[in-house]
Amino acid sequence: MCGIVAYIGQREAYPILIKGLQRLEYRGYDSAGVALLNGGMHIYKRQGKVSDLIAYTEGKDKTGQVGIGHTRWATHGQPNHINAHPHCSGNGHLNLVHNGIIENYSLLKKALEKLGHTFESETDTEVLVHLIEELQSRDSLTLEEAVRVALSRVIGAYAIVVIDEREPGKLVAARKGSPLVLGIGDDEFLVASDATPIIEHTKRVVYLNDEEIAVLSKDGYMQIKTIGNEVQTPYIQELTLEIERLEKGGYDHFMLKEIHEQTTTIADCMRGRLNATEGWIRLGGVEEFQNRFMKAERMIIIGCGTSWHAGLVAEYLFEDLARIPVEVEYASEFRYRNPIIRESDVIIALSQSGETADTLAAIELAREKGALVYGVVNVVGSSISRLTDAGSYIHAGPEIGVASTKAFTGQVTLLTMMALQLAHSRGTISESYYQRLLTELENIPHKVARVLECEPQIQYIAQEIQDSHNALYLGRGFNFPVALEGALKLKEISYIHAEGYPAAEMKHGPIALIDENMPVIVTATNRNAYDKIVSNIQEVKARKGKVIAIVSEGEKAISEMADYTIEIPETEDPLAPLLSVIPLQLLSYYIAVGRGCNVDQPRNLAKSVTVE
Ligand code: M6R
Repeated sequence: MCGIVAYIGQREAYPILIKGLQRLEYRGYDSAGVALLNGGMHIYKRQGKVSDLIAYTEGKDKTGQVGIGHTRWATHGQPNHINAHPHCSGNGHLNLVHNGIIENYSLLKKALEKLGHTFESETDTEVLVHLIEELQSRDSLTLEEAVRVALSRVIGAYAIVVIDEREPGKLVAARKGSPLVLGIGDDEFLVASDATPIIEHTKRVVYLNDEEIAVLSKDGYMQIKTIGNEVQTPYIQELTLEIERLEKGGYDHFMLKEIHEQTTTIADCMRGRLNATEGWIRLGGVEEFQNRFMKAERMIIIGCGTSWHAGLVAEYLFEDLARIPVEVEYASEFRYRNPIIRESDVIIALSQSGETADTLAAIELAREKGALVYGVVNVVGSSISRLTDAGSYIHAGPEIGVASTKAFTGQVTLLTMMALQLAHSRGTISESYYQRLLTELENIPHKVARVLECEPQIQYIAQEIQDSHNALYLGRGFNFPVALEGALKLKEISYIHAEGYPAAEMKHGPIALIDENMPVIVTATNRNAYDKIVSNIQEVKARKGKVIAIVSEGEKAISEMADYTIEIPETEDPLAPLLSVIPLQLLSYYIAVGRGCNVDQPRNLAKSVTVE
């Protein structure tokens, strides 16, 4: 939520900031702004996207080798250009960009107002920059010192970068609860919310830790201290991310590219971890904590949105294959409901971004109670990957479309391997079934490629139903979480109201909604309970619902009843979500495109939800 980028060095800052903001735009696109230091301060900000900011700055003075930029997802105050960042101090000397929420901002604001400060915006951020100004002038503090003292008074989460025209060769950056990465180039530094704006300038980075402040100078000097004023030795890491993975690669949208990438991302997730011929699966983190996993009396899986849906698939996998009881929790509910967590529990935290605030808070809670916390994360070096006891990356590469696609199948692939590894160690499945699942899992990327061949047919179906106002998604067993995921995809990018339901549950309520205008998308690849799902479809047809069925190749009974049938390769039931979700991703994509929606940046959403 909100993207920050900053530059200090020998080059012009503006183009670097703008390119960086475009890379970070997935984090928020309500407004964008930059402040540039060049003798004085030039501040440009605009409601809307980075492209609006670019148009606005046309012909204006954009020189300066020091600058900060921001793309906003509104929390405090409307998404207009007054509330856009950077925010300026009352005396005009300081400018600050911020990601996060200052929870005690209203108390601080009242205290500052009593001291004569006046505010232009409704934001918590403006309060922080005034507080820094106040401390500077009252106690004659340097920028760095004033930032340190101000942050010690702040409750909440922040990633900030501040500049001061009276100390023009310096950037001060700090974080707590919101991510910040420092890029170290030759005689230059970059600061950003993630590594994507940095990668094309340098691969050497430092991930700032919570409650650390970095001072970066134009002459190449860098110092990191804690808010308690202790000097830290920075840990410099080398990024492995390739720049091509951040481009659209010929596709119209990132989402479509990411859907197609699943043939390789699923294979990448398994690479070096699974060998069906030799009959093994090895996840390093699971091996390291084998004892804790073997003794686990219960697993609690936490996540939000699509990650929560992947967790629901894992519930079926772990219980069915490894016979471990599982609870799947929304991180936001888990953290506030005084949950019972035992030391013998294993908590699995799922997150594409590794930065979701609710998931981070739930992890902290679980760790306090002594449970082992295992992260399944996509973004390398993210906060969750660093906060957990152990974990596995899904290696899906950057996911830029706000609607999660390849991260879901990456998470499910990883969790399937985990369930199989544990099932094998615990002896809860037969050797022959284990071997069959391994062989089938290894073959899934080829089957994904075959599912993608349905694209033209799905495009046609999308046109037929794109004007609907509602849609119902049904599935049973392993395909029930897929129904939820299909409904979420449709809602978020096409703004059509959609609900996911267990197919048999339909008759307990949603059946009342069904008429000839209601598309009902049924994921019906199940071998288990096949007859039951056939009956559920009959119930829909009896009410004139329009059935779009996803079935296994060669299926007859459902195909004869359904209005549209999408055939996908057959697989074992526990692996079905890896294939059956793909037609649903494509269906949402083409419906959204048909309705003229902004697929990669749907309204009101952001890729990385770093506020609660
Ligand atoms: O980065 P995370 O996996 O922790 O994100 C969780 C949700 O915010 C995310 O899955 C969201 O629901 C997506 N927009 C779904 O497509």
